[in-house]
Amino acid sequence: MSAWTGAAAGAAPGRGVAEVGGEALGRVGAATPGEKLGRIGYINLTLNRGKGDAAAGQLLFDKHCASCHTLFGRGTKLGPDLTTADRKNRQWLLLNIVDPSAVVRLEYAAYDAVTSDGRVLSGLVAEATPQAVTLVNAKNERTVLPRDQIERLNPSPVSLMPEKLLDTLDDQELRDLFGYSRPTARPPPSRRRRRRASRARRS
Ligand code: HEC
Repeated sequence: MSAWTGAAAGAAPGRGVAEVGGEALGRVGAATPGEKLGRIGYINLTLNRGKGDAAAGQLLFDKHCASCHTLFGRGTKLGPDLTTADRKNRQWLLLNIVDPSAVVRLEYAAYDAVTSDGRVLSGLVAEATPQAVTLVNAKNERTVLPRDQIERLNPSPVSLMPEKLLDTLDDQELRDLFGYSRPTARPPPSRRRRRRASRARRS
């Protein structure tokens, strides 16, 4: 058996990542560096300074998050569905977005693989059978790795979710994105509902 025995040999057919590597259990990354704490503090202040527009925020979510996450039924289910996430906890949200690797939930722990033909891959374990391990990368592309071609398979120290996702957003865009994802937010009303609402106001 090759070097990766320790990490994934115990995986049962059709089981997910939970059974693949015990080391990933409740993994907590290195302490959040000061830079990230500073960024979290800045975004917090920015959010307190004004209101966001949920409709604009929905577009920002579609652009920056929906390739991996679902919220209010929109998006992809590569990462956790954020509809049921603890979105009222802004500090938790900010930590998870600014420093994705700080705390990674077991089911979403990424793995790094090296194959015998020299390929280096990273992704979530979508499937593990006695014959093969299927990794799915940040672009939602699946790669089936026959076990006899896997040289190494180890829990990755970093999340599949990239850092600095919010760094291209200006202050108002930050407020819009959080305005859309805030706990009490519903998806922005459809045009029809909005029209009905304004009619009701007039009468
Ligand atoms: C390339 C894929 C990818 C993108 C893009 C991405 N995420 Fe993530 N995200 C993940 C993965 C995978 C996890 C689970 C692992 C982790 O906690 O880092 C995650 C975890 C999270 C969590 C913690 C959820 C939980 O229940 O533990 C939050 C909050 C989050 N992302 C918010 C966002 C927001 C907001 C955006 C857009 C600004 C975003 N993510 C963009 C992949 C992504």
